Amino acid sequence: METRVIFQSEDHIDTNVIKEAGKLIRAGELVAFPTETVYGLGGDALNAFSSAKIYAAKGRPSDNPLIVHICRFEDIYRICSEVPETAVRLARAYWPGPLTMILPKADCVPKETTGGLDTVAVRFPSHPVAQAFIEAAGDFVAAPSANASGRPSPTLAKYVLEDMDGKIPLIIDGGPVGIGVESTIIDLTQEEPMLLRPGYITREMLAQTLGEIDQDQTMMESNPTGRPKAPGMRYRHYAPKGQLTLVSGEARKVASYINEQCRLAHVEGHKTGALCTWENLALYHADEIDSIKCIGSRASQESIARELYRALRECDDEGLEVIYAESFSEEGLGQAVMNRLLKAAGHQMVEF
Ligand code: TXA
Ligand code: MG
Repeated sequence: METRVIFQSEDHIDTNVIKEAGKLIRAGELVAFPTETVYGLGGDALNAFSSAKIYAAKGRPSDNPLIVHICRFEDIYRICSEVPETAVRLARAYWPGPLTMILPKADCVPKETTGGLDTVAVRFPSHPVAQAFIEAAGDFVAAPSANASGRPSPTLAKYVLEDMDGKIPLIIDGGPVGIGVESTIIDLTQEEPMLLRPGYITREMLAQTLGEIDQDQTMMESNPTGRPKAPGMRYRHYAPKGQLTLVSGEARKVASYINEQCRLAHVEGHKTGALCTWENLALYHADEIDSIKCIGSRASQESIARELYRALRECDDEGLEVIYAESFSEEGLGQAVMNRLLKAAGHQMVEF
C-alpha cells in the first residue's frame, strides 16, 4: 500500500483533504492525524475491524485498549453508559484538551476497541485539524499514538511515516505537535478518581477541580507490587534501542559522571549519547561523548516535554548504544516527563 502524506495547516484547513480522510475512516481504513499531544493512528472506534487493523499496524497487543476521540462534549453520552458529575466538571475545565477520562462504556463501543474492558477511554482533543477530521470520520475515532509498539510516540509526521509507511493509506501532516507527551489519563469509574498516566494536565490541576486525587501507585515506581490500571502502562514503552540511564543530583556532578561513563563506554567500543538541558550543555565534553542532545531548558518544563521523544528517536537513528540523561523534578509537568524517562530507562537511575 502506498502511504501518502498531506500537509494541513491549523489555520487553513483544506476541507477536501479532511473529507477524503473522513471517507477512508468510514470505509474501515486507518489515517494518522495530528493532535496537540502526539500524532494518533485513527480508525472508526465503533467498527471492530478497524480496531483490529490498528493493533495489526502498530504491532500492539490487543488487550491494550484504545482511546476514543470525540469532537464535541455531548458525544460523550453516546459512547458512555454513565457520565458522573466529576467528568462534567473536568470537561468544563480542560476540554477540549490533553485529558482522557475512563468511563463505563455504552453497548455501541465494541470490545475490540476497549481491549475487552467494560470501560472506555474518551478524549476531546483541542487540535483544530484533529477536530475537523473526527467530525468528517463520523464523530468517533479510536486512536493510539501513531508509533510502532515500543517506539517513542511520534511528535512529527516524518516519524509516523518511519513506523507506518506501506501500512496505512494516509498521514495528515500538521507540523510539529505542541505538547509532545501523551494525554493525562484519569479513571472515573471508581468511587475515587484516580490518575493513571501523568500528562500536560497535571495532578495539581486535576486537584483544583476535584480536590485531592489518588494516583496509580505503579506509575512512578520501579518495582511496583500491583499491576498498572492502564493496560498500556504495563508494557516497556518509549524504549530507545540503546541502554538508557538517568542521572540525578547537582548539575556538575551529573555531567562529570556522564562524561566519564561515556569515555569508558567508548573505550569498550560503544557509541554513546547524553541527553541534557541548555543550562548544562557546556558541562558536557564533546570529545568524550559521541552525541550530545539538548532536550530543552530547565526554565520551561514544556520545552522538555516537547523535545523528549524526538531526542529518544534520534538516539535510535544514530545507533547510540549507551545513553545517559539528566533527571528532573516530578512536580507539575515534570511528573509526565519523569514517568516517560523512567520507563525509557527501565527505571535505571544513578543518584548523587
Ligand atoms: O495523547 C494521547 O492520549 C494520544 C493521542 C493520539 O490522543 N493517544 C495515546 O494513546 O496516547 P495510546 O493508545 O498510546 O495510549 C492509551 C493508554 C494506554 O496506556 C491504554 O492502556 C490506556 O490508555 N487505556 C485506554 N483505555 C483504557 C481503559 N478503558 N482503562 C484503562 N486504561 C485505558
Ligand atoms: Mg502509545
